[in-house]
Amino acid sequence: MRTDYAEVFQSDAAVDKYERVVYAPETYSTAVSDRQRAFLRRLVRREFTARRPVQHDFACGTGRAIKLLHGVVRAAHGYDVSAQMLAKAQEAGVYAKLHQVAGDGPVPEPATVDGPALVTVFRLLLNAPKDVRDRAIAFAAKILPEAESGLLVVENHGNRSSLRHLRHRSNRANQWFAELHHAEVEQLLARHGFEVVQRRGFALCPAGAYRREWLRRVARRADDLAARSARLSGVATDVLYVARRIPK
Ligand SMILES: C[S@@+](CC[C@H](N)C(=O)[O-])C[C@H]1O[C@@H](n2cnc3c(N)ncnc32)[C@H](O)[C@@H]1O
Repeated sequence: MRTDYAEVFQSDAAVDKYERVVYAPETYSTAVSDRQRAFLRRLVRREFTARRPVQHDFACGTGRAIKLLHGVVRAAHGYDVSAQMLAKAQEAGVYAKLHQVAGDGPVPEPATVDGPALVTVFRLLLNAPKDVRDRAIAFAAKILPEAESGLLVVENHGNRSSLRHLRHRSNRANQWFAELHHAEVEQLLARHGFEVVQRRGFALCPAGAYRREWLRRVARRADDLAARSARLSGVATDVLYVARRIPK
């Protein structure tokens, strides 16, 4: 977990690396994102039948989660601390209103509470300190005061009970190698009155399997199949949790 997480993405070099290296066409992250896209679009169509939701993407970065849902939400708002990440999102023509927010202090105000809403918090919880995690979920709670207000979807891209955990010893000195247990995510959400209603995994193979060309095709096929089953989320490297406010 990094205490300087809010600053890490405030440089053009970090933005460039995120877009060109992490999300290059053949990477593990791109494959995971493609699977998430299919899952999320189905989720929105199934769960919001009366009226399409407004998406609020906290820590939106360059707008990946907004792009995944383009066309199935009524409108979208992206919130991020980094002007550089937001500029990249703007440059890419992300279809959303983008808001720069402070990295700490009072919980930011949502741009609108015109429901129903879908709040997304992707690739933030794993590496952020506890207060940033709580602040992100407190933000979601403002938009989703009741069970009927909509859904919250959060990503854990370093599930502790996955094959990725085998690398934890050799990564002891690597400040980018964090792990998050399902129970920690559930407890974080519960502190703000949310319960997990669905969990889905998007890869069983760790990122390393996608770096070797000869292995990539097999890994991709196996992970495509694994992502279809909710049962494998327990041991997936990358997991989405769908949550709702606990009825009062
Ligand atoms: C790894 S990127 C994830 C971007 C995007 N959600 C995605 O999944 O591609 C993490 C993002 O969190 C943002 N961030 C870090 N600390 C934050 C904070 N305290 N409040 C809001 N955003 C923050 C960073 O600026 C960065 O854009």
